[in-house]
Amino acid sequence: MMLDVRDVHAYYGKSHILQGVSLQVNDGETVTLLGRNGAGKSTTLKTIAGVVAPRGGTVAFAGKPVAGQPSHRIAAAGLCFVPEHRGIFRLLNVEENLRLAARKDSPWQLADIYRIFPRLQERRKNGGAQLSGGEQQMLAIGRALMNHPRLLMLDEPVEGLAPVIVEEIVEQLKQIKAAGVAILLVEQNLEVCTQLADRHYIVEQGVIVYEGSNAAFAADHAVKDRYLGVGVV
Ligand SMILES: Nc1ncnc2c1ncn2[C@@H]1O[C@H](COP(=O)(O)OP(=O)(O)O)[C@@H](O)[C@H]1O
Ligand SMILES: [Mg+2]
Repeated sequence: MMLDVRDVHAYYGKSHILQGVSLQVNDGETVTLLGRNGAGKSTTLKTIAGVVAPRGGTVAFAGKPVAGQPSHRIAAAGLCFVPEHRGIFRLLNVEENLRLAARKDSPWQLADIYRIFPRLQERRKNGGAQLSGGEQQMLAIGRALMNHPRLLMLDEPVEGLAPVIVEEIVEQLKQIKAAGVAILLVEQNLEVCTQLADRHYIVEQGVIVYEGSNAAFAADHAVKDRYLGVGVV
C-alpha cells in the first residue's frame, strides 16, 4: 500500500476540522477525495503532506510513518503535494521553475516533462507570471514530477479552467497515472473524477462517509445527490 491514513485528527486553533479521517491509496491507484465546500478536503491533503500537523492518528507512506514530519521531508520521500494555489515562482521562467525541482535520481527529467506538457516547452522562456491558469497548473504538476513522486496529491487542479484546457490536463494526468504514479485527487468536477479514478471517497464535516469503486460511484446517483448536492443526471 502506498498511503495509509488512519483516524487522523487536525485542528485550526480550537476548531476540530478533521475528526478521524481514514483512507488508503494502493500502489499505482488513482483515488479522489470528494465533498462539499468546507468539508475538509484541502485540510486532509495538507495534513497528509505535513503542512498542517496532525493531532492524532497515523499516516504511513510506503510502509513508513510520516505523521508529524516536516513537509519537506515528506516530499523528499516521494509524497508530493500540488496545492490549490499552485506554488510556482512567478519571477522565474518555466524552465528555471522546473530545474529548481530537478533531482538527478528522478525518472522524470526536463525532456519527460516537455513530452507530457508540450505547452511548457513552447513557453519555456516565459516567466511564471505570464502563464495562463492552465499553464501554471501544468508547471506546478511538472515541478512535482521532477521531484520523483510515488504519490502525487492534487488539490482542484482544473478549477476555473476552460473546458479545452481541462481535457488537456485530464489526458496528461492519464499519462502520469500510466507511468505508475499513484494519485490522490481533490476535484469538484465529477466528470473529471470519474474519467481518472479507480476509487472515490467522500468527506463530510471531517469524516469519511463514503468509499466506492469508480463503477459503483458512477452508478450511484443517490450518494452524489446526498453528499455532493448535485442533481441526478
Ligand atoms: N487556515 C484556516 N484557519 C481556520 N479555519 C480554516 C482554515 N482553512 C480552512 N478552515 C476551515 O476548515 C474547514 C475545512 O476547510 P477545507 O479543508 O479548506 O475544506 P474544503 O477543501 O473541503 O473546501 C472549513 O470550515 C474552513 O472554513
Ligand atoms: Mg479545498
